[in-house]
Amino acid sequence: MELCIIGSGYVGLVTGACFAEVGHTVVCVDNDQRKVDKLQAGQIPIYEPGLEDIVHRNVAARKLRFTNSIQDGVDNSQVIFIAVPTPPQPDGSVDLSYIEKVAREIAGVIKQDQYRVIVDKSTVPVKTGEKVYDTIKRYNKTGATFDVVSNPEFLREGCAVGDLMKPDRIVIGSDSDKALALMKKVYEPFLAPILVTDINSAELIKHAANSFLALKISYINAVSAVCEASGADVELVAEGIGADKRIGRSFLNAGLGYGGSCFPKDIAAFIAISEQLGIPFTLLKEVEKINRDQKERFLKSIRDTLWVLRDKKIAVWGLSFKPDTDDVRCSVAIDLVNDLIKEGAEVRAFDPKGMEKAKEFNLVPGAVLVNSPLEAVEGAEALIIATEWKEFANVDLAAIKEKMHTPLIFDGRNLFDPATMTNAGFTYRGIGRRVAQK
Ligand code: UGA
Repeated sequence: MELCIIGSGYVGLVTGACFAEVGHTVVCVDNDQRKVDKLQAGQIPIYEPGLEDIVHRNVAARKLRFTNSIQDGVDNSQVIFIAVPTPPQPDGSVDLSYIEKVAREIAGVIKQDQYRVIVDKSTVPVKTGEKVYDTIKRYNKTGATFDVVSNPEFLREGCAVGDLMKPDRIVIGSDSDKALALMKKVYEPFLAPILVTDINSAELIKHAANSFLALKISYINAVSAVCEASGADVELVAEGIGADKRIGRSFLNAGLGYGGSCFPKDIAAFIAISEQLGIPFTLLKEVEKINRDQKERFLKSIRDTLWVLRDKKIAVWGLSFKPDTDDVRCSVAIDLVNDLIKEGAEVRAFDPKGMEKAKEFNLVPGAVLVNSPLEAVEGAEALIIATEWKEFANVDLAAIKEKMHTPLIFDGRNLFDPATMTNAGFTYRGIGRRVAQK
């Protein structure tokens, strides 16, 4: 099939590349000409495992191309996906101006004899589909026939290609049999279960899913605080809870809390949506509060041990909001570095992929960014692990201990086993972990 994706950001680019990989012919539209040129030349603006190969292969095979022309995309595709940003506004509600603009642009170029399916892939508040439909109808002057469909995306950064190629489920919200038939054809090659709903339900599924996952994280983080106060171990508790199939073990990893470009924004949006509908979702406010408290509790435990942070040499491993991505947006690691610097600490930080973007956007102006985990700990009075990159787990512990001024580790992502670290001669503090005695 011929498909068009409008917006070549994270979701748009990965979706376009994977659609081409399964055999569709895809044109990706972006209004940033520099980005279009780079992508067409094979330069990928984000780090996402496996993505570069797929893009190169499919551009070479002419299954994937990039343009700045919506007209080109709409003329040459039966199904048009909208994957543009839906950023938060100061009050938490969603800024839908990019979606609205794209809807008007599509309206301006659909021809009368072209039936088109317009698919909303961006994360949007419930009832956005209705607005997109009305906008296209109002601004289109050719009397073109079209349908609007909601098809939320569930990919995670860092494993986006795998999530897209092997999804747990595909949600299609549609009020039209004709559009639904085309959507099923788009997803046929993925061999995944398809859940068909109305448009409003599909839109709601996305916000409800992300909020539930954030709730799971805040739940285990609240449990981790009780573990610390009582001497229990959160990893064992998570294992015990998670073994119940009704609960499941995933997203029960205690740590510094959730960050990134999705959860913080989507939970705030769901709260705003519920308030606009007159049924405030107060549980989610508590989810946000626990998330904020988690970082504060961690900082407090650092202060409790180091006493005064001014002039202390602190190493930080990790800047990206999670491993396997260079994305540093709304990263708790970045906030933590800035908090430490504000208190006068001298921070040396390292991240395998996130440093370029941290530098580009000047996110940690007071920190020294170094080239290896070992360089970061040189003379350090404490090491903080803020992102659980695999390469950190494989470091030479003896070399780390040797380089540090004092072998003290605050592990904000429970990357290490407390007993191993204690045996290796470190004073080790995890999140909600039992303190191992030597
Ligand atoms: C999230 C969802 O998982 C995707 O399904 C969704 O498509 C995406 O948002 C989106 O809306 O676009 P993502 O933000 O890429 O994906 O990353 P996650 O793996 O969900 O992690 C989010 C945050 O939660 C990270 O900061 C991570 O460190 C934290 N987290 C995750 C925990 O603290 N504990 C856990 O057990 C899991």
